Amino acid sequence: MLRLALTLSALVAFGGGARADEFGVLKVAPGVEETFYNCTACHSERLVAQQGMTREHWADLMVWMREEQGMHEIPPDELDTILDYLAEHYGEDRPNFPY
Ligand code: HEC
Repeated sequence: MLRLALTLSALVAFGGGARADEFGVLKVAPGVEETFYNCTACHSERLVAQQGMTREHWADLMVWMREEQGMHEIPPDELDTILDYLAEHYGEDRPNFPY
């Protein structure tokens, strides 16, 4: 019972905000939601998080993902949000490498 109470209070402590593990290993920051929901239909978000690329390379990868891997078309403004997110948090310096 005590354990349940602690669990509940931990959940409440997070409030309505994003839980740390809601988007798997992806860093919670603006754009994480768009990235997570568009990119985890076919593979784990870890495949995304383990990369470190420039924005240009990410953009190229999106073309490859769409043309060769059958990814759905992402509206341009949403794609921009995703690319900004990826370039900032999964850039060449790999600040959020998950392993
Ligand atoms: C329609 C399915 C699909 C969707 C949606 C999708 N991918 Fe992929 N992705 C794939 C496939 C298939 C591979 C290739 C896996 C392999 O090579 O084993 C892949 C591979 C990758 C890789 C690894 C590339 C490499 O060089 O190994 C990355 C990074 C990646 N995807 C990122 C993304 C991102 C970011 C998104 C969202 C914008 C996304 N994917 C959405 C199907 C998809």
